[in-house]
Amino acid sequence: MALDLTKYIASIPDYPEPGIIFRDISPLMADGEAYREATDQIVQFARDKHVDMIVGPEARGFIVGCPVAYELGVGFAPARKKGKLPRATVKATYDLEYGQSALYLHKDAIKPGQNVLVTDDLLATGGTISATIQLVEELGGIVVGTAFLVELKDLHGSDKLKGYDKLSLMEF
Ligand code: PRP
Ligand code: ADE
Repeated sequence: MALDLTKYIASIPDYPEPGIIFRDISPLMADGEAYREATDQIVQFARDKHVDMIVGPEARGFIVGCPVAYELGVGFAPARKKGKLPRATVKATYDLEYGQSALYLHKDAIKPGQNVLVTDDLLATGGTISATIQLVEELGGIVVGTAFLVELKDLHGSDKLKGYDKLSLMEF
């Protein structure tokens, strides 16, 4: 029987600010069986999408996307925060549940027409994933799916993903 993955998400009230319940995926990552189950479910979702590349935002998008890329036998491109990528980049700014930020992607990370799966640990307001999608599309990539471990329903991030195929393994 499939594992109940929600048991591997720790909920921390008032972190990093009062009023925020932080959903921590590190217990899931720390358990080999749970991490593999989550990865397998995303691989299953991606299998028939002819994915050429996976793109995930820093930092937790890497944790989700890299094992999926390995299993599908495709590449992974990191969307990173300011000052981290050494070559020519495209940039997208966005609002967070707590704060504001910008993401960058190497200009040669995606070739026009490539099918891209975008991964992250968590969908909250949808700002991070929208910025990541914007970067991919600016380079001519086709976003064939978005995949998350956790979706915070109250923050309505899915409103920003209308028209994109989405998998969320858990909802809170
Ligand atoms: C968190 C999380 C998602 C994003 C979700 O990342 O890992 O990427 O916020 O929020 P949103 O849907 O409202 O954009 P964070 O920016 O805290 O960076 P980190 O992964 O480097 O901790
Ligand atoms: N990123 C944005 N909101 C978050 C939350 N509530 N828990 C964990 N990561 C987050």
